[in-house]
Amino acid sequence: MTCIEKIETAGLIAVLDTADAAEAVQAVKALSDGGISCLEIMFRSAEIDRTAQAISEVRKAFPDLTVGAGTVINKTLAEKAVKAGAQFIVSPGFNEETIDYCMVHAVQIFPGVSAPSEIERALSKNLALLKFFPAEALGGPAMLKALGGPFPQIKFLPSGGLTAENVGSYSALDNVAAVSGSWMVQKQLVADKNWAEITRLSHEAVLAVLGFTFAHLGINYSDPAACAQGVSELGLFGFKSRETEASWFCGESFELMKNSILGKNGHIGIMTYSIERALAYLEPYGYHPVWDTAKWTGEPQKSMLQFIYLDKALNGFSVHLKRR
Ligand code: 3PG
Repeated sequence: MTCIEKIETAGLIAVLDTADAAEAVQAVKALSDGGISCLEIMFRSAEIDRTAQAISEVRKAFPDLTVGAGTVINKTLAEKAVKAGAQFIVSPGFNEETIDYCMVHAVQIFPGVSAPSEIERALSKNLALLKFFPAEALGGPAMLKALGGPFPQIKFLPSGGLTAENVGSYSALDNVAAVSGSWMVQKQLVADKNWAEITRLSHEAVLAVLGFTFAHLGINYSDPAACAQGVSELGLFGFKSRETEASWFCGESFELMKNSILGKNGHIGIMTYSIERALAYLEPYGYHPVWDTAKWTGEPQKSMLQFIYLDKALNGFSVHLKRR
């Protein structure tokens, strides 16, 4: 996978503010224990060589993680970051000199934009993935949605003011490649060496980005007549029925299947903001996609998964994912 593919698959970049290599390694261990695989270490201290050292130590200690440098506000910092082994460079603003340096050295750069004119300048440099900063102050998801109109080819990394509570409204957007922020690894938690809390917040962040919610419970019937009987029984509880080709929905929470398909007893439908990210998250737990059940939307080149079954059942109930 390329660096951009890794970032898009994770959907989340943790932003760490420390210039202390030992502290950085411990904080990154805590992030990684919580399921975070992409992060940036910011040049926020005047001690730029120590920050570069922290990047280099983290790269050495965690070769499987994707590690970038943040707050790269000039070319000098970009040079230090690249030398230290940063796999990508992020800047809060749009600095032509920094961008050109990175492009000449074939280093991934995600410059910050805050308005359409900067996006047009990015387009003229063939950049298609941009940091959107400071996201909350700029109008948040509503602004990103609006920017999707004139700039459908651009994807964003919103950062600035994101939290476990508001992050889902960003990661739900088609033009958000990944969200980023420091809320799970705040400076005080690092200073307090509260690694357990960083791990807890990281796991919470990963789940908030995926946005899993219950969609419905599918119940298998042996034939359409038995299913119709089930529909009238659930009707006693006031659930309104709606027929589809293969099933009857009773309210939105129950789907009664006209015939027994997939799953001994039925299925559990689970919603997520991104099926692609959810599949990557579930893979290490032994869940794999059943590709011939996949449904897609969009042009072939940018189609997104809308629906897919997983290959592992829960007590006789198969599981499918559905895009929120
Ligand atoms: C950044 O540079 O990306 C931000 O400082 C991160 O923003 P946050 O601290 O509000 O998450």
